[in-house]
Amino acid sequence: EAQNERESLLIALGFARDFFVKNLQTAEGKSIGLSYFKERGFTPAIIEKFDLGYALDGWDNLLNAAKAAGFKEEILLKAGLILQKEGDASRVYDRFRNRVIFSIHNISGKPLGFGARILTKDKSQPKYINSPETPVYHKSDVLYGMFQAKKAIREKDNCYLVEGYTDVVSLHLSGIENVVASSGTSLTDGQIKLIKRFTDQVTVLYDGDAAGIKASLRGIDLLLEGGLNVKAVVFPDGEDPDSYSRKVGSQAFQDYLENNSRDFIGFKIGLYKEEFTKNPIRKAEVIREVVQSIGKIPDPIIRSVYAKEASGLLGIEEDIIHAELNKILLKGQ
Ligand code: CTP
Ligand code: MN
Ligand code: MN
Ligand code: MN
Ligand code: MN
Repeated sequence: EAQNERESLLIALGFARDFFVKNLQTAEGKSIGLSYFKERGFTPAIIEKFDLGYALDGWDNLLNAAKAAGFKEEILLKAGLILQKEGDASRVYDRFRNRVIFSIHNISGKPLGFGARILTKDKSQPKYINSPETPVYHKSDVLYGMFQAKKAIREKDNCYLVEGYTDVVSLHLSGIENVVASSGTSLTDGQIKLIKRFTDQVTVLYDGDAAGIKASLRGIDLLLEGGLNVKAVVFPDGEDPDSYSRKVGSQAFQDYLENNSRDFIGFKIGLYKEEFTKNPIRKAEVIREVVQSIGKIPDPIIRSVYAKEASGLLGIEEDIIHAELNKILLKGQ
């Protein structure tokens, strides 16, 4: 029964994907959706690779097409494709309207849900509307772009982690295919396990703004806890991997990644360097921060390698770092 329902939901989601993809080639889709993607530098090949699409302007385009194809409203609701009208559950309407569509796939390439971007700069509406959690779309177990990235992640033995849909697509355009997005939410254990199926090395490429740096710090600790090797790159203020790669071009972007990848210790020190060279109290805080992160690493040998590195980079005796580490580890038991 449950298996049957999952199957029905996947078929409905596949229908919706095909519908959004086809819409992009209609007159409306071309003049609004396709021109939006073109303006962002997205090519026809990349649009096809990622099942990018367009949700027509109107309340029931998908609803009517799906019903005509034999899908029941109940299944469309459970798949997160339509919504019930507030106060009148017998009336339903399309969730995604007048937006460009990013299809979210499982690792076999089946669509599980969609992210839909607004086409205007209207701040009164959310920039993205996303599929809800459903019986087939468990957000905590999915990373955007993993289907298109998994082979390259294995080959490069590294996974770039970005915030957004457009960052994933843009990096592919720059020739970087080992990239997935956490889609603006905090990383989960399920997502970290998914990465670990393909590599032990993650490079965090979050947005160069306060929110992105905060998310990087949180993400780094979660990845370390998951036993992964972690690096991170900081982008100039206001840039994200998409905007920066388009600004400087793909070769300069790849060079930037190479020259600015730091392990988590270098990343943390880099964030605070200017403050702490003058301020010993601030420096003590940074040391504590770094040791806190080292304490997340499950493997004691790797922990001690980083303790040594931290000692050298921060100019503080290794014994002190180990003493602080022991305190943290005892507390954690
Ligand atoms: N996000 C979301 N809902 C929002 C804003 C963001 O789900 N209202 C998610 C999306 O997955 C988005 C990611 O968080 O891709 C990162 O957000 P942001 O940096 O604001 O968007 P970008 O991906 O950079 O999108 P764009 O370049 O189109 O502005
Ligand atoms: Mn779940
Ligand atoms: Mn952001
Ligand atoms: Mn962004
Ligand atoms: Mn962006």
